[in-house]
Amino acid sequence: MRCFIDNWDGKIIDIQEKTTEMAFSMTLRQIIQDPSDPIYRNFQQEFLNISAGTLTLPINFPGTSYYKGLRGRKIIIRILKQIVAERRASSTVQDNILAELLGNGRTKFHLNEEQIFDQVFTLLHSGYETVSTTSMMTLKYLHDHPKILEELREEHLALRERKRPEEPIDWNDFNSMRFTRAVILEASRLASIVNGVLRKTVKDVELNGFIIPKGWRIYVSTTNINYDPLHYPEPFKFNPWRWLADKSLESHNFCFLFGGGPRQCPGKEFGMFLVSSFLHYFVTRYSFAAFLYCLIDISGILYASTYILFFLAVLFGQSESFAKASILFADGSKSKK
Ligand code: HEM
Repeated sequence: MRCFIDNWDGKIIDIQEKTTEMAFSMTLRQIIQDPSDPIYRNFQQEFLNISAGTLTLPINFPGTSYYKGLRGRKIIIRILKQIVAERRASSTVQDNILAELLGNGRTKFHLNEEQIFDQVFTLLHSGYETVSTTSMMTLKYLHDHPKILEELREEHLALRERKRPEEPIDWNDFNSMRFTRAVILEASRLASIVNGVLRKTVKDVELNGFIIPKGWRIYVSTTNINYDPLHYPEPFKFNPWRWLADKSLESHNFCFLFGGGPRQCPGKEFGMFLVSSFLHYFVTRYSFAAFLYCLIDISGILYASTYILFFLAVLFGQSESFAKASILFADGSKSKK
């Protein structure tokens, strides 16, 4: 982690780019091995192409994102095949997720190569963008709220005093960062890093007198739940203390920051650890200011327009109905009120 935020003194840093690099590399390290190996030189760029390709029109023509995504997948599969062949030929026992997927001599699940690659894709895809965006947005809110930044920094400086100068932080240190956790949860709530979760009904479900038939797909819009004043008083205020005042807030059935039920995010604590350690090394080394610049991107404008519509609705007092619509699926008991 420390190597990602070295030598930033006096420089203008694109935080989004750096946190993406950090999250990708740290996740890759857990899944496969040391990403500094030359075999991974093209890995990140090709993986970003795959991610972009999944969110585009399926036009398979040279130059399109879809085309680049499919090509990226082929390249990554080739690299993974090479890694798997090397692992199978070697007697060294490795301690990472790929080793577990390959068996590591003890698993009872036998996955074929295609299933293993799918797992690697899923973990990387779910892990890096969420962690990078959460890190970036937390920093943005800290920048906008200097007093909160000061309190967070105090927590980390106190932690540093208990450690030797270059000693890395560990799991116990992470568990002691109570205020930092609250800040990250509040940033995730306000920025709605993941704006919804998908479910499929496996039987007819009755909700507030309505029947959702078996087989329907339901999109639970968590963004709107996150802004619901019934659950979060003064929902548009950045207030990390709400997570400390009510310790059970994180496990309430309306808190969907990491999803809910049996499909809840399995990478939650790993993701929180990455964001917390990024903040730790960042705030104990640097003070910072925002440098604004404008990037015009037509796809961004189209995407942003959906949010502009939402904010217009807020301006004209429609936010409550947005919130109510979201409760309908998330928490039936509340919507009866
Ligand atoms: C701050 C970071 C993260 C956030 C905000 C986040 C959020 C989420 C959310 C909202 C879901 C949907 C859960 C549901 O449908 O109920 C999810 C699923 C998932 N996440 Fe995360 N996640 C984060 C980090 C990670 C990391 C680091 C990994 C792995 C390296 C990961 C792996 C997954 C996987 C595999 C799923 C699918 C689970 C399933 O469908 O059974 N996530 N995540």
